[in-house]
Amino acid sequence: MEISVEGKKVLVTGASRGIGRAVTETLVKAGASKVYAVCILKDELDKLASEVNNVHPIHLDLSDWSATEETLSKLEPVDCLVNNAGVLWPTEPGSIKESDYDKIFDVNVKALINVTQIISTKMIDAGVKGSIVNLSSITAKKSYPRFLIYCTSKATVDHITHNFALQLAPKGIRVNAVNPWIVNTAMGAAVPVDQEEAEGFRKATPLGRFIETEEVAKVILFLLSDWSSMINGVTLPIDGGLIL
Ligand SMILES: NC(=O)c1ccc[n+]([C@@H]2O[C@H](COP(=O)([O-])OP(=O)(O)OC[C@H]3O[C@@H](n4cnc5c(N)ncnc54)[C@H](O)[C@@H]3O)[C@@H](O)[C@H]2O)c1
Repeated sequence: MEISVEGKKVLVTGASRGIGRAVTETLVKAGASKVYAVCILKDELDKLASEVNNVHPIHLDLSDWSATEETLSKLEPVDCLVNNAGVLWPTEPGSIKESDYDKIFDVNVKALINVTQIISTKMIDAGVKGSIVNLSSITAKKSYPRFLIYCTSKATVDHITHNFALQLAPKGIRVNAVNPWIVNTAMGAAVPVDQEEAEGFRKATPLGRFIETEEVAKVILFLLSDWSSMINGVTLPIDGGLIL
């Protein structure tokens, strides 16, 4: 017996590369009938749509609240949502700029709230018992001062997950988050300052390695599927035991 999302329609944000692309490919393999792939990077998005079946690209800057409302409100209701789009850069206390806070929170927090309320309202209106997964991070639970704003944005994602989980449960919509440690993507590569720090991070991980995008995508598939039908409001570490 395999985990399936047979016939489900899904919206994935930040789908063009990294974790979002792996999630999109995994969901299509698991039977998703349509994946609305939202992304700011048009070339990568077009490449994804040309290489993976059932992908419908939506070119959109999610940090633009009104454009997001205008674009997504025209969509049909979907069964599942993956809030994956995110940004990261170093923001060390002492040199943090107001624009760092605004730009990181615009994508990691504000866009996630905006997309979730648009899509969940459509689910409710159509009577869809949906499932939503947010990409948080292990940095929501473990601090890295060099990334203060990013860590704070992901701690906020955990709290948003809890709040939406409570609000939407009576409608039969589940909301969960995954909290990965370093995943082998462009973003993950930007976390350690150098090879030496990367090696230290690997050694600090009880399973002794970083994470493959497919290892995150499979957990998200499980949380979107009926296999997790009583799981609601969890913020699930995918960290090889780092947090212990
Ligand atoms: N890679 C890691 O180590 C890691 C660890 C924990 C959590 N995460 C989280 O997982 C998610 C995906 O990370 P990734 O490593 O695949 O990153 P990535 O940089 O490879 O991909 C991010 C995606 O988000 C899209 N995006 C960014 N800003 C956008 C905007 N304004 N509008 C629309 N799309 C936008 C990008 O175009 C890209 O497709 C992020 O939320 C990230 O914070 C990543």
